[in-house]
Amino acid sequence: MRAAVLESAGQPLVVHDDVDIIEPRAGEVRVRVRYCGLCHSDYSIVSGSFPMPGPIILGHEAAGTVDCVGPGVTHLAPGDPVILTPLPPCGSCYFCLRSQHNLCVNGMSLATMALPDGETGLSRNGEKILRGVGVGALAEYVVTPASGAIKVDADVPLDVACVIGCAMQTGVGAVLNTARVEAGATVLVMGLGGIGLAAVQGARLAGASVLIASDPLPERRAAALKFGATHAIDPLTEDLPGTVMRLTGGIGMDYAFEAAGKAALIETGIALTRSGGTTLCLGAPPLEENVTIPMVTIFASTEKKLCGCLLGSCNSPRDIPRLISLWRNGQLDLEGMITHRRPLAEINEGFADLAAGRGIRTVIEI
Ligand SMILES: NC(=O)c1ccc[n+]([C@@H]2O[C@H](COP(=O)([O-])OP(=O)(O)OC[C@H]3O[C@@H](n4cnc5c(N)ncnc54)[C@H](O)[C@@H]3O)[C@@H](O)[C@H]2O)c1
Ligand SMILES: [Zn+2]
Ligand SMILES: [Zn+2]
Repeated sequence: MRAAVLESAGQPLVVHDDVDIIEPRAGEVRVRVRYCGLCHSDYSIVSGSFPMPGPIILGHEAAGTVDCVGPGVTHLAPGDPVILTPLPPCGSCYFCLRSQHNLCVNGMSLATMALPDGETGLSRNGEKILRGVGVGALAEYVVTPASGAIKVDADVPLDVACVIGCAMQTGVGAVLNTARVEAGATVLVMGLGGIGLAAVQGARLAGASVLIASDPLPERRAAALKFGATHAIDPLTEDLPGTVMRLTGGIGMDYAFEAAGKAALIETGIALTRSGGTTLCLGAPPLEENVTIPMVTIFASTEKKLCGCLLGSCNSPRDIPRLISLWRNGQLDLEGMITHRRPLAEINEGFADLAAGRGIRTVIEI
C-alpha cells in the first residue's frame, strides 16, 4: 500500500508505494483510509519533541470505509463508512468496566505504537514499521481492533467528519466528559489549535457564561469568537490575568483548559482558576518541560484541582455518534475546523502548516 513513512525525527516524511499491511485477524478490521487530519501529537514525533524510534506511520484523526473484516467481527461489513479512533476500548478490562474507556488497557498501543498484542502489522522490505499514535492513518489502509472503527451513516461527509477522531473527541470531550462543565460556568481556553477550538465549541455547548480564548495567532482568535468565545486575548500583548479577574469579579475562572502543549500554561491555569476551580491539561508538552506547584498555597488552602485529560475521556463507540448528532443539529461546527486540504504527496507541507500555525486543521486526502 501507499503510506507516508517517517524514518526518524527531523527528517521529511517519504511516501512509499510498497508498504505491507496484514490481513485483519480475529476481532480486527481493515479500513481503506480516505481522509486524515494532522494533529500536533503527530508533529511532536516528526519534530522529535516526543522521541520515538522509526520507521513509523503517523496520523490518528481519520475516516474511511471498511475494506474487510477478520473472524468474529459481525457489526461491520465491507463498504461501511467509519471514523477511526486512537483508543479502541476492549470493553472488559478494569478501566472499561468502570466506564473509563479512554484508559482501557488497549490504550497502551499509544505508547507501544503497535496493536494491543504488540504486533504492528506494518512492514516494508521485511523491516517492521511502527503504528503511530494509535492508528497509523497516513496510509491507504489501517488494521484496527473492531471497536476502533465507528460506523457512521452513509450521508456523513468523511472529509469533514475525520476531525472528530482526535480534535473533537479531545476538545469537546474534555469539557463534557472530563471537566463536566456546568451551564453558567466561567471557562478559559489557552491555545486555539484544533484541540483548543474544539474545547471552545464544547464550552459554548455546555453553556459557559464567560468564555475567554487565548492564543497569539489572530486568525485563531477570530475562529474562537466565531465558535462562541465571549472574549479573545493575545497573551503576548494583552493582560490575560487582568482580563480574567475583571470578568470574574476578582474571583478567577471555574475552569482553565491548557491546550497549547506548554507546561508553563498549566501554572497559568492554576493561578487564574478560583478556589475550588479546575485546571485541565489537554496539551502534551515536550517531555523535558515540567511544572512547579506550591502545594500549600495552591491545593491545601484553596482546594484547586489539576486534572489530566486523554482523548477527552471519550468512550469512542458512544461519543463519536453523539458528536455527529451534535454536528447534524448545528450545535458543533466541523467544517469551520478545516482550513487546508492536501494530497498525501504534500504531507511535509501539511506539517509545515501545522508548525507555523497556518489555518486550523489541514486534512490529508489519501
Ligand atoms: N490530551 C489529548 O488526548 C491530546 C489529544 C490531541 C492533542 N493533544 C495535544 O494538544 C496540544 C494541542 O494540539 P493542536 O493540534 O491543537 O496544536 P496546534 O499546534 O494546532 O495549536 C497549539 C496552539 O497553541 C498556541 N499557543 C502557543 N503559545 C501559547 C500561549 N502562550 N498562550 C496561548 N496559546 C499559545 C499556538 O499559537 C497554537 O495556536 C498538543 O500538545 C497536542 O500534542 C493532546
Ligand atoms: Zn491528536
Ligand atoms: Zn478495556
